[in-house]
Amino acid sequence: MRTVTLIPGDGIGPEITESVVKILKSAGAEIEWDIQTAGADVVEAEGKPLPDRVITSIKHNKVALKAPVTTPIGKGFRSVNVQLRKELDLYANLRPCKNINGIKTRFDNVNLVIVRENTEDLYAGIERKIDEDKYEAIKVITRNASMRINEFAFEYAQKNNRKEVTAVSKANICKLTDGLFLECARKVAEKYPNIKYKEILVDNLCMQLVQNPENFDVLVLPNLYGDIVSDLCAGLIGGLGVAQGANIGYDIAVFEPVHGSAPDIKGQNKANPTALLLSAIEMLKYINQNDVALKIENALYKTIEAHTHLTCDLGGTSTTDEFTNAIINNLNIH
Ligand code: NAI
Repeated sequence: MRTVTLIPGDGIGPEITESVVKILKSAGAEIEWDIQTAGADVVEAEGKPLPDRVITSIKHNKVALKAPVTTPIGKGFRSVNVQLRKELDLYANLRPCKNINGIKTRFDNVNLVIVRENTEDLYAGIERKIDEDKYEAIKVITRNASMRINEFAFEYAQKNNRKEVTAVSKANICKLTDGLFLECARKVAEKYPNIKYKEILVDNLCMQLVQNPENFDVLVLPNLYGDIVSDLCAGLIGGLGVAQGANIGYDIAVFEPVHGSAPDIKGQNKANPTALLLSAIEMLKYINQNDVALKIENALYKTIEAHTHLTCDLGGTSTTDEFTNAIINNLNIH
């Protein structure tokens, strides 16, 4: 039995968490959940949205599954997600993006991986008021963070038989900051002669991704571009409801979907749990529960391919509960 920290989040978080926990239990995953709440609801009771107990739990268990947490826009507390990634030094955000059989999209040969730097850039949260009509935000890029994220990307490419890594920047404009990111990417690329290295400006990348996504393999990006391009890529494979992710540090990993708390569909039994489920499947592989991971993966893909129990975001009419039960029914069908 392995203890894993579980953050149910808010918005649609608790609904999709319930679904995923139920599926993992039915599949026989050997997991004991250490449930830790965080976010707006916690502020009232505990004074801050990310209490120390959450960090302590993850540091102790080394692995967490996290549903989305709302961040107030334009005011209020700092993002729990950003804080968590920073405090635990989860420097790599890994977001595989691959077509799923049965989900109709414009392209059927997308198979790329986003490696997003997770600790700095504009997410350093350094903003200041100059005067009533002028504000500034500081973009922080360091050699240390740029080296390790590029090393992570090339190492990932090598281990997973990927052929190419493309470093993404806006170094024509941000000559110093993105220039440093590229300098590090080039340096790391030299150590991996078997992996093709390319560079692209982020605007051009976006255009090419919506025309020829099959041309891309592993993308390595600074934090903000990585965030935006992740959502674009989610759109290529069927939307945010199916886009999985993981935040990885030196010895800690927090698995979470790309999407947010989707307040527009909260509490309606409409949310698609697939993105969180795929993140949980990767988590199961990470903790060496491969058999159960594959069993769930098969059941999920079978359910999607059957097209009889899809959630609204995938063009179906099923509720979260109906989709969840369909996956559970497919667990033992080979
Ligand atoms: P969002 O990702 O929550 O929603 C964007 C759109 O996608 C909405 O129309 C939503 O209904 C849909 N969607 C997202 N996930 C879905 C799912 N599983 N099934 C079906 N439809 C789904 O992005 P938004 O609205 O910009 O952000 C809402 C909140 O989430 C904000 O407070 C934001 O800061 C937070 N957020 C949290 C993240 C995290 O916890 N890692 C990541 C991104 C945003």
